[in-house]
Amino acid sequence: MNQPLTDGFGRQHTYLRVSLVEKCNLRCRYCMPEEPEWTPGHQLCTTEELLLLMDTFIKLGVTKVRLTGGEPTMRKDFTRILAWLSRQDVELSMTTNGTLIHRFIDDLKRYGLYKLNVSLDTLNPVRFEEMTRRTGFHKVLENIHLLIDEGFDVKVNAVILRGQNDDEIIDFVEWTRVMPLSVRFIEFMPFSGNKWDDDVMVPFAEIKSRIEESYAIEKIPDGPNDTTKHYRVSGFRGNFGIISSMTEHFCGSCNRIRLLANGAMKNCLFSDSETSLLEPLRRGEDVEPVIREVIARKHATHGGRFAIAGRENRSMVTIGG
Ligand code: 5AD
Ligand code: SF4
Repeated sequence: MNQPLTDGFGRQHTYLRVSLVEKCNLRCRYCMPEEPEWTPGHQLCTTEELLLLMDTFIKLGVTKVRLTGGEPTMRKDFTRILAWLSRQDVELSMTTNGTLIHRFIDDLKRYGLYKLNVSLDTLNPVRFEEMTRRTGFHKVLENIHLLIDEGFDVKVNAVILRGQNDDEIIDFVEWTRVMPLSVRFIEFMPFSGNKWDDDVMVPFAEIKSRIEESYAIEKIPDGPNDTTKHYRVSGFRGNFGIISSMTEHFCGSCNRIRLLANGAMKNCLFSDSETSLLEPLRRGEDVEPVIREVIARKHATHGGRFAIAGRENRSMVTIGG
C-alpha cells in the first residue's frame, strides 16, 4: 500500500463516504432546501469514473466505504457499484431513507452489505409527511422490520428538532425494548437552506437527561473513531446512541473523507470548500496528489469554523451526512 492519507494533525483517513447521487425521493425539510439546485448530468461521475476514484482511495488506504446520497438506491447503477465494491477489501455500509430498500435485499446480501442506517425521524405517520413532504412512512417501517428479519445490522437515524419530534425521544427508546436495532439521536446541524436555528437544535446533554428521566441507562463502549455515544436501557434488546456533532465535536479522531456525486472531495462535512477530482481525472491527470493536498489542509475541527451556523455550505442532500 502507498503512504496512508494522514493530515497535519496525524489523523489517518481510512473511511470514505460516497454520495452516489444527489437526488432523493423524499424532501426532508432539515436536509433539502425548498428548491434544490441539481448539478447538470454531464458534471456527475459516470459509473467508470466513480469506480476509478473509489479505486484510488482504496489504494491510498481506505478500508471502510459508506454509500450515501441523496438516496443511494436511486442511482441506476447502484447494484453494479455494489458488485464492484464487494470485490474490494473494504467494509461496506450505507445510509438510506429505507423507502426502496426492499428491492435490493438480495443484492445487499450477495454483495455483503449488512450495515444499514435508515433515516426515520418520527414514528407518527402524519408527522412523517410534514417532515419529509412525501408519503412513505409505512413502507419505511415495514422495510426496517424486513431488514431486521433478514439479519441486517440496522441503525435508525433520527435528527431531533425541538417542537417537531423531540416529544418522541422516549417512544424511540421504547422501540428498542423488543426490537434488536440501534436508534441514533442526531443533533441538528446547519446546512444551506435548512433554516438552522440554535433553539431548534436539541443538545446531546438534554437528549440524554430526558431519557434518564424515564429509564435507568448504562453506557456501552464506543469504538475509536465513533461519532456516536452508545447507551442501552438494561434488559432491552436494542440500544441507542447520541451524535453530538454540534455540542461535543469528535474531530480529534476523525478518519472521514467525503466524495460527492460530482466527483468533488471534501475533507470535512463542514468545510466550505470542495475540490474536484473529476476535472483532473477527465483531463487524464493523476488525482492522487490532489487527494493528498486536500487531506493535508484539513482543519483541526469543523472545517476551521469557529461558529458553524450561518456559514455557506451545501445543502445536506448533496453531501449525504
Ligand atoms: N442535521 C443533522 N443530520 C442531518 N442529516 C441530514 N441533514 C441533517 C442535518 N441538518 C442526516 C439524516 C440522515 C443522514 C443522511 O443525514 O439523519 O439520516
Ligand atoms: Fe471530521 Fe469535520 Fe466532522 Fe470534525 S466536523 S468530525 S473534522 S468531518
